[in-house]
Amino acid sequence: MTVLTDTTVTSPTFRGRRLRRTPALRGLVRETRLHPSMLVAPLFVRPGTGIREEIGSMPGQHRLSVDELAREAERLLEAGVRAVLLFGLPETKDADGSGAWIDNGIVQTAVRELRRVAGDELAIIADVCLCEYTSHGHCGVLRGSSVDNDATLPLLARAAASLAEARADVVAPSAMMDGQVAAIRSGLDAGGLPETAILAYAAKHASAFYGPFREAADSAPAFGDRRAYQMDPANGREALAEILADLDQGADMIMVKPALPALDLVAAARAATNVPVAAYQVSGEYAAICAAAERGWLDRRGAALESLTAIARTGAGILVTYFALEAAGWLREMDR
Ligand code: PBG
Repeated sequence: MTVLTDTTVTSPTFRGRRLRRTPALRGLVRETRLHPSMLVAPLFVRPGTGIREEIGSMPGQHRLSVDELAREAERLLEAGVRAVLLFGLPETKDADGSGAWIDNGIVQTAVRELRRVAGDELAIIADVCLCEYTSHGHCGVLRGSSVDNDATLPLLARAAASLAEARADVVAPSAMMDGQVAAIRSGLDAGGLPETAILAYAAKHASAFYGPFREAADSAPAFGDRRAYQMDPANGREALAEILADLDQGADMIMVKPALPALDLVAAARAATNVPVAAYQVSGEYAAICAAAERGWLDRRGAALESLTAIARTGAGILVTYFALEAAGWLREMDR
């Protein structure tokens, strides 16, 4: 056996450690920086007043009545988060999901109130889907036991128009109906609402990571699953086809969802388009970090910020995350 001596060990030519030595050097060469203005906070709004009801499957998240939602928006703005994505829990549900598209629906009411208290300081994004509003929990109207794509389109267009009239800045269709972006765009334009933007949930997989959301929004399908309309997680090229189709139909921004399980699609979306790319760190991604942190298995802040940094590094400029408020606080601390 040969013994290595000082003279036989060659000096490495690449010394990455030189630029990792101090916080100042690391800050100087950091390639990805998170900023509170990239964050979007998903919020759940429910009927009533003075209600802040914790969501069991999503510790730290609440179903908020409209007045509490306004206070939450103020906290977010204070922390530097300037965008929210709204989901609604209606008083009652029916087969057509009318709560999604009536003028005095819960989210329409919430949008008006947020606009009143926050003016244009806050970017208000409203999710457009029927699943929180249908008695059967599917994302569109049924014909027999399947979701009728074309019969759902006018209802999604109507929901989007009513949310735009309430002065949402952006509508975000998440139903995964074919042609939904075109239907919404033409409905908005015909309704004299050309300024309302569309954020298309373009690449949305039928993901196991939506579980906690369905408890939060009481939107689990009463029978079957969503695999006949949401994408197969195995398909990446198809995701790109969905993204290009949505852009063709008039989407202003596109979203990939979930985020960490679909980082390749975030990168592909960034490379294939020139529009803003959003990624949604969904309820299951959030809940998994929360649960592991509660057991002491993960550091909550470290795991959250590392995940968000990875999503941004991969190409998303807009991060939809239940950590938004907390992360903005952490980022502010790190700034000092
Ligand atoms: C509505 C919708 C869902 C989510 C966002 N919009 C639920 C679903 O598709 O079942 C999930 C978001 C999350 O898990 O955080 N279609």
